Amino acid sequence: MKRTMTTDDAIKRWNQHAESFISSYTEHGDIHREVFLNPTIFSLLGDVNGKRVLDAGCGEGYLSRLLAEKGAIVTAVDYAQKMIEMAKQRTSSDAPIHYRQGNCEQLSFLADAQFDTIVSNMVLQDLEDYEAALREMHRLLTDGGVCIFSILHPCFITPNSGWVRNEKGERQFWKVHRYFYEGVYDQNFPVHHKEKIVYYHRTLTSYMKAIQQAGFTLSAVVEPVPSDEMLARYPLFEEDLHCADFIVFKLTK
Ligand SMILES: C[S@@+](CC[C@H](N)C(=O)[O-])C[C@H]1O[C@@H](n2cnc3c(N)ncnc32)[C@H](O)[C@@H]1O
Repeated sequence: MKRTMTTDDAIKRWNQHAESFISSYTEHGDIHREVFLNPTIFSLLGDVNGKRVLDAGCGEGYLSRLLAEKGAIVTAVDYAQKMIEMAKQRTSSDAPIHYRQGNCEQLSFLADAQFDTIVSNMVLQDLEDYEAALREMHRLLTDGGVCIFSILHPCFITPNSGWVRNEKGERQFWKVHRYFYEGVYDQNFPVHHKEKIVYYHRTLTSYMKAIQQAGFTLSAVVEPVPSDEMLARYPLFEEDLHCADFIVFKLTK
């Protein structure tokens, strides 16, 4: 039988593990954000100075703070109360960031066409109703507004995917498994905890359909790779030249 989980149950886990989830964060987020996601998101965003930006699923708020430093006026929403508390603690009171607790699947407390830009960094794969979230993002944008979201790459990060190793423990190849088995799965976090954070695996087709049905035009797709500079600094990430961990979409209303 297919496993199910309500949004509220998933959020209980986010609240429970919020502190350990962000324990490796610097002001640039974790290392994957620094190497892969931030350079891609900011190059797709362009100039945000003076723009009204929604950070949908802001977590502890590092991206909101980077956006605010670049002159954006930010509204940052997360459903996990614990994340919002930590985000507020980490943000100086004069920063132009307004934190709200709310469910990205239903943001009726925000007005239509209120934002020039929406970013949603590694959130849509964590939502049960990602189609509703995309519809909400479309509603909240001005005409011509831009929505940028990143997710785990659904073609490579699938249930049971991972490196297959030889008897010496050396990496041989990346295994993709159960690609068409959409549904809710445990993430491997926290490693030694029974109740893990969950994510929803869906095919690329499902994401493309939802983008189109929400009314967006697809403007760009990026599968981020580390820059030469980042590779020199973190040689470990050579392994990410074999398959993609992330995919980033730029949509236009
Ligand atoms: C992987 S974290 C990413 C956080 C942040 N964007 C970042 O990159 O650090 C996913 C976030 O989505 C939030 N989240 C999960 N379901 C949500 C929902 N239905 N509405 C709003 N936020 C949600 C979680 O609380 C968590 O902070």
